[in-house]
This record gives sequence, C-alpha cells and structure tokens, in this order.
Amino acid sequence: MLDIFAIRKDFPILARQVNGKPLVYLDNGATSQKPLSVLQAMDDFQRNHNANVHRGIYTLSEEATALYEGAREKIRQFINARSVEEIIFTRNATEAINLVALSWARQKLVAGDEVLTTEMEHHSNIVPWQMLAKERGIMLKFVPAKPDLGTLDLGLFETLLTPKTKLVCVGHMSNLLGTVNPVKTFVEKSHAVGAKVLIDGCQAVPHLPVDVQQLGADFYAFSGHKMLGPTGIGVLWARKEILDATEPVLGGGDMIKEVTKVGATWNDLPWKFEAGTPNVVGAIGLGAAVDYLTKVGMENIWQHEQDMATYVLPKLTAIPGVQLFGMQKPSLDRGAIFSIWIDGMHPHDIASIFDEQGIAIRAGHMCSQPMLEVLGKPAAARASFYLYNTQAEADVFLNAIEDAKKVFGV
Ligand SMILES: Cc1ncc(COP(=O)(O)O)c(C=O)c1O
Repeated sequence: MLDIFAIRKDFPILARQVNGKPLVYLDNGATSQKPLSVLQAMDDFQRNHNANVHRGIYTLSEEATALYEGAREKIRQFINARSVEEIIFTRNATEAINLVALSWARQKLVAGDEVLTTEMEHHSNIVPWQMLAKERGIMLKFVPAKPDLGTLDLGLFETLLTPKTKLVCVGHMSNLLGTVNPVKTFVEKSHAVGAKVLIDGCQAVPHLPVDVQQLGADFYAFSGHKMLGPTGIGVLWARKEILDATEPVLGGGDMIKEVTKVGATWNDLPWKFEAGTPNVVGAIGLGAAVDYLTKVGMENIWQHEQDMATYVLPKLTAIPGVQLFGMQKPSLDRGAIFSIWIDGMHPHDIASIFDEQGIAIRAGHMCSQPMLEVLGKPAAARASFYLYNTQAEADVFLNAIEDAKKVFGV
C-alpha cells in the first residue's frame, strides 16, 4: 500500500489552489508532476556542478560527466537493459521513435517491405511510419482494434504478419484507453516471421514494472516527463547488435572518434547516436525521478492504479449518459486512464467546467485520431491518474461529471 499522503508532500505543486479550489491534477497521461528530489537534483547540478560533459579534463566537467552517465546507469537498471550502450538519450519518446525511423528503418527497409502499426497508437507511433512509407515505397498496415472491448485484434494481427513484415510498432499501454497490450505476444509472433518490434512505452514505463530483456523487443521508447522527470529528455532503448549495425543520423560533436577532412569515424555506443551537447540537466533530473519511482516501487504504483481503476470504473460506468471508451471493468490489462464522451457536451466544455473547480483533465483528440475514428467520436475527455492521486480526488472527478451534466441539462 502506498502512503499517498506522504507522497503528496513530496510534490510542491499539489498544494496549489486553482480558481480558489485545491488542484486535482488528473492529466498525468500528458505529463506528470515533479517531486522535490527531482527539482533539487537539477538545481544542485546547475548551481554546483555545471560544465559540459565528456570534454574537459577538470573537476567540474568530470563531475558533470559522472552525473550524466550515472543517470544513464540508473535508467539501465530501471528497465533492466543489458548495458548502458543500449540507452540512448533523446528529447522525448517521439524523437526516440523518429530516430528508429530515420536510422535503422531508413537504412534497412526497401520498397515493398511492410511496417505494421496499430489503430490504437499515439500519433508519434504512426506519423514517422507514414513519412517513411511515403519516402521509401514501404507499405504501412494497421492492426485493427476492437472498439467495444478496447483491445487489439490478435487474430487479425496474425493474418497481417507476412515474411514481408519487417517492423511491428505497438504501444505498451494506450494513452486513450489505458489498455495494456500483450506486447510479449506481439514480439513472439513478429519474431517468428523475422520482423523487428518497436514498443512505445510512453504510458507503461511510468506506471508498471518494465523489463526490456523479459519483453524481448528490439526497440523501446519512452519520455522522462511522464515519469516524474523533466521535459526535454527521453530514452530509446535498442539492442546493442542492432545499434552496432546502424549508422547514426545526426553528425557533429560527441558522436565521433576521429574527424579528418575526408571523413569521420563513429564514437562507441551510446554516444554514436547523441550528437552535440546533450540535455545533461534533464538526464540528471530523470535519474532522480527513477530513484524516486524505485523507492516507492513500481509494483506498488501499478497496484495503486489498479485500485484506482477498481474504485472509479463501476461508479463512472453507472452515470447515465457517460460513454467510457475501452475496458469497462477493472483488469490487470488496464491502467487508471478514463476517456469519456457525453452526448450533448463537447469534451472541451467538460474540461473548462472542471477547470473552474480546480480539476485538470485533458480534452481533445489525445493524439489518437485513428482510434477515435474507430470509436466514431471526434474527441474525448480524459482523466489519467498517477501515484499521488487519491480516492477523494476520484470522488471530486465523479461528482464534477454529475454537476456538469446538470449545467448542460443532459
Ligand atoms: C503512448 C504515447 N506515445 C508517445 C507519446 C509522445 O510523447 P512525447 O510527446 O513526450 O514525445 C505519448 C504522449 O502523450 C503517449 O502517450
């Protein structure tokens, strides 16, 4: 059991009032709040250790390098990668996915090859593949979702897999539905036809234990800011063998071993893929976030979110006129993300009425337009919970829906 009240004290922003009401922050799917330890780690670095990394032979630069590379090691342990060579810092998950598209996929895939993604993906796991498909004559196919169940159609997935399939891209947890996809099954079936697998772990790494070796995928992408870390830092994990056999896409400082007027040789992994001065302070903040999550325990965080879903789901689905997308009942394959539609109220209206009461939720297409199209709706209102959200906040959210319905007379 989490001591949520002790946890909440670690997050200064949670003491805020918004429009005269205590903040109820339920937009964790978009970004999470940051604990003091993360803010302090970043502040301490800037005040006391700031220097560029990997360059200077002087104390500050050595300290900065040790802190930056130390953060990488924390992340390696957190997702159980074999080696820090497999942890590449990026700006965010979007950049991590694009890096795979622009490097490995662009170098290895040829016209006529097929890439499979799914209808349930965030736009960042669709658009880079559309761009690549257009540029290279690659066929992009979508694994259909079952809108009534909120799951992917595994039967149809198997029929789409062919020897032409070179890459399968699937989200670990849906940012719209909260569904946890059977990614291990995706990996096994894809590998059986010789396809590589990229998992978008943006919503999974912050919320449940992730072990990249156990999942067995080839690429795994996530963002720091959704897991208590700062914005501007993300991670691409990829198998060392694949990274070794892939050319970098960005050239410049730090990614080279030697440069002459006729050419250059590449640095070792992971720096081969990190051209230029990296986001040192961001990586250090993410390292502190990983320390925080590890101290609380990912099993405990996931259990808390399951408890939240168990509490919210029966109440939410019992409100007349509320259509909840995805799984209707608590399940081990579902997180605490609740996207709804109410006939007669646009999601933006719901979000702005909630804001008057200090409740922050997301409204719009959630960067999931293909899935919303499958659901037959233009937008949704989404509440997404995290380790610091309480049952009392769930009640505020549920009551606010009832109140909003009265205001709109629906
Ligand atoms: C499932 C999923 N993938 C990818 C992203 C993109 O994350 P970022 O904007 O940090 O790159 C998000 C962000 O909402 C997401 O929820």
